[in-house]
Amino acid sequence: MKDIGAPESRRGLLEPLLDRRSVAALEEPAPSQEEVGLILDAGLRAPDHGRLRPWRFVLIRGAAREAFGDCLVAAAKRRDANVPPALLDRYRTWPLRTPLLIAVGAAVRPAHVIPEIEQILSAGAAAMNMLNAVHLLGYGGMWVTGANTYDRGVNAALGFEWPSRIVGFLMIGTPKNAAIPERPSRTQHAVDWAAPVRGAATMPPPRAAGAQ
Ligand SMILES: Cc1cc2nc3c(=O)[nH]c(=O)nc-3n(C[C@H](O)[C@H](O)[C@H](O)COP(=O)(O)O)c2cc1C
Repeated sequence: MKDIGAPESRRGLLEPLLDRRSVAALEEPAPSQEEVGLILDAGLRAPDHGRLRPWRFVLIRGAAREAFGDCLVAAAKRRDANVPPALLDRYRTWPLRTPLLIAVGAAVRPAHVIPEIEQILSAGAAAMNMLNAVHLLGYGGMWVTGANTYDRGVNAALGFEWPSRIVGFLMIGTPKNAAIPERPSRTQHAVDWAAPVRGAATMPPPRAAGAQ
């Protein structure tokens, strides 16, 4: 990556994004109706190949959380008749511990010129934009998946008929704590690619990108 000036002096502009972290322990209040609208709008700014607009968001809040807990329990029993009662309890109570859940998914068009993977990735990009919006509005959020996310019955209950599918649930609320996790170093995750020199036996080792 080329040095584009004084990167660290630009850091302040990105601080709100660089600050984002996932928060599992959430409590009321959830974002207001107006804030929820903004969060959804942020999801709708995700990039989307072919303008298919595959994004679908299903909000689970208020009393609907109880019914959704029952839906998760029923799905777990269908998957495994001997599912441990403790796990069923966890599924039943999980939605109630989360002020707002948003199931993020993709309405997938199979055999379209835009590959399915790109439609799914676009839904994932929407989820990320929404997580950032949640954070920027001062709330906490976390993207979770698990067996229920990939359960066709749970998907159908939320309106996702295969090949449409859920890419994850966003748990949203007010953070109970504000632990700041350690973040990875950019030098371990990005390199500047250099074309191999003609005739050279091996490629030069990559140079870490963004290193100071
Ligand atoms: C597609 C996807 C699914 C995830 N599913 C879970 C999950 O089911 N349970 C969980 O504890 N974390 C899950 N995570 C990870 C958390 O959302 C979060 O990224 C992780 O705890 C690290 O926190 P951070 O976002 O602050 O780095 C998932 C992340 C992604 C991208």
